[in-house]
Formats: sequence, structure tokens, C-alpha cells
Amino acid sequence: MPASSSPFLRRAMLYVPASSQRMLTKSLGLTVDTVIYDLEDSVNAEVKAEARDALYQHLRRLPAKPPHVSEIAVRVNNARSPFIEKDLKLAASSFVVDTVIVPKVSNIGDLREVSHILKNLENKHFKDAREKPLRVMAMIESARAIMNLSSIVRGPRLNGLIFAAEDFALDLSLTRTPDMSEFLYARSALVTAARVESIPSLIDLACTSYKEKDGLDQLEKECQNGRAMGFNGKQCIHPSQVNMVQRYFTPSEKELEWAVRVNIADEKAAAEKRGAWGLDGRVIDRPVAARAKAIVGRAEKCGLDVDGLREKWKDQEPE
Ligand code: COA
Ligand code: MG
Repeated sequence: MPASSSPFLRRAMLYVPASSQRMLTKSLGLTVDTVIYDLEDSVNAEVKAEARDALYQHLRRLPAKPPHVSEIAVRVNNARSPFIEKDLKLAASSFVVDTVIVPKVSNIGDLREVSHILKNLENKHFKDAREKPLRVMAMIESARAIMNLSSIVRGPRLNGLIFAAEDFALDLSLTRTPDMSEFLYARSALVTAARVESIPSLIDLACTSYKEKDGLDQLEKECQNGRAMGFNGKQCIHPSQVNMVQRYFTPSEKELEWAVRVNIADEKAAAEKRGAWGLDGRVIDRPVAARAKAIVGRAEKCGLDVDGLREKWKDQEPE
């Protein structure tokens, strides 16, 4: 059965190519929710074995996760590739790795295959090495995957879905535009299907520009758009993108203040058996109150000062 919760925020998930020693080293000093060490498409086919070996050595030297990284993930090659067993063995053998990212998932069979291999590895070799079984996140990057979403979301160990724009555009012969309207159907289908099974992490496409003001402007636009569509994080390809992404996928001050006020007033309204009530001239009913509760929960996970705001607004009454 898929997991319906995650201890990880996954606001920004930064790819670090395993073939670059410079970037592997750099990753240790970064502050980011998730580092994804990549064995797939940022690594040239001819140096796959070398990159896997470099990543093995890198992980082996880590006594623990770096201080400002919450989750370590490994993006393996796809489930039908000749590299899959070795890639998964590397991920499962390291006690600092939390999650495996499986690219080019096209049906639930791909996830079953990965889970089957992981189970054998965990049983045979790594019984004592890991506290928890590895979580799995699936990358959705083809027409077939979109058509199979309703079964993919029931995949074993599934803890998140990631939309990958470049391969998707290639598969459908799409032309990328700055407003991303060409991906609207697929991104919306992904979020909708994931909600059916309460998949906790929905991660939006990577912004390909990472330099100068134009790059950051595009990133900001994408963050706003992704949040509004229901994604709760975004892939990053360069450290310069991480701060903005994490900021946009954290509740803003204004949003949190509103949510805390709704929470406090809603408790009072509930005590008076009132279903719908008003705040600042707007109606607050069940779904709005539930959304406010979710925002407060997310803010707590992000380490924001919710208690301080509760104290500030303790006298808030439902109108
Ligand atoms: N992870 C860790 N460190 C990174 C990084 C990354 N993804 N991207 C850049 N850096 C580091 C560089 O090593 C450099 O640090 P250093 O000078 O201390 O060595 C610093 O950040 C600045 O890098 P910069 O010169 O701006 O970029 P670059 O030219 O070295 O690299 C890319 C640019 C796009 C090639 C690189 O960011 C990259 O490979 N990104 C990942 C791409 C990827 O994984 N794609 C597949 C998933 S969609
Ligand atoms: Mg891809």
C-alpha cells in the first residue's frame, strides 16, 4: 500500500549529478530539504558505473546526513534498464539514504518491480543496515504514465509523484512556453490522481533557467503557478534556485496569520454548534476551515512560530 504521510517537507528537491565530484562535495554544505543524487539523465551512459562508484564512496564517507539536509534521495535509472539492480543495491546499502526516485515510471508494474528488488535486498543483505524500508517516489514523464496514473498511485512504497517536463515534452512533441500551458492537463491530472490515494508529496517540474534576474523571475512565476495547482514542492537543478523555492512552498506570513485566526474562531464557532460563520466579511465554512487547518499544520512542519500567532489572536471571535 502507498504511504499517506511523509516526515519530509520536500519543498525543494535539488539534483546533484553523481558524476561530478565537485557537486557531490558541494552538496554537503547546502541548506535544502532534499538532495537527490542522480544516476540517471545527468550522467552520461558511458560513465554510469563510474558515477555509481563515486556516489558509493561519497555516501560511505558520510557519518550522518549533512546538518542542513533533511532527506537524501537517489535517482536510479529506470526500472527496465540494465542498471536498476546495481543502482538499488547502492541506495539500499547506505543508511543515510531515505528515498529512491524512480524515473520514467509508465505503469504500476515498474513500481512493483522496484519494490520486489528492494525487498530482496533488504531481506538478504541489509537487515541491520537500515532502520526503515526505503520510500519510493515516481517520476511521471510520458503520455502512457498520465494514462496509467490511477493505478500508478496505488504502487507499493509510493510516497510522492514528480512531474518531469523535459521528457514529457519530448514524448508528446510539445513546445515549451514560459506560461507552461502545454503542461496544464498533465500536471493537473497528476495532482488529482495523487489526492485520491493521499500521496503526500507532489513535486512540480524543474525550472531550466537558473541565472540572472530573468531566470529568477521565471522561477518565481513557476513557484506561484505550481503552488496554486496543488503541488507542494519543486525540483531544482542549481543551488541558486533553492531559497526561492523553499520560501514559496512555505506558508507566507499573511496566509498563516489568516489560518491561525480561522482556527481559533472555528473552535469557538464549533463550541456554539455553528457550521458557517464570517471573518473579515468572507464566509468560512467546512472546506475553508479545513484548508486553514492544513496551512497551520504545514507551517508547524516548516518550523514557523505558530504558538506566537495563537497567543496574538487568542481573542479572535467568529463574526
Ligand atoms: N548541485 C550541487 N552543486 C552545484 C549544482 C548542483 N546541481 N549546480 C551547481 N553547483 C555548484 C557548482 O559546483 C559551483 O560550486 P563550486 O564553484 O564551489 O564548485 C557553484 O554551484 C556554482 O555553479 P555554476 O558555476 O553556477 O554552475 P555550473 O556551470 O557549475 O553548473 C549546471 C551548471 C546546470 C551544469 C549544474 O547546475 C547541473 O549539473 N545541475 C544539475 C542538472 C541535473 O541534474 N539535471 C537532471 C535533472 S532535471
Ligand atoms: Mg527525465
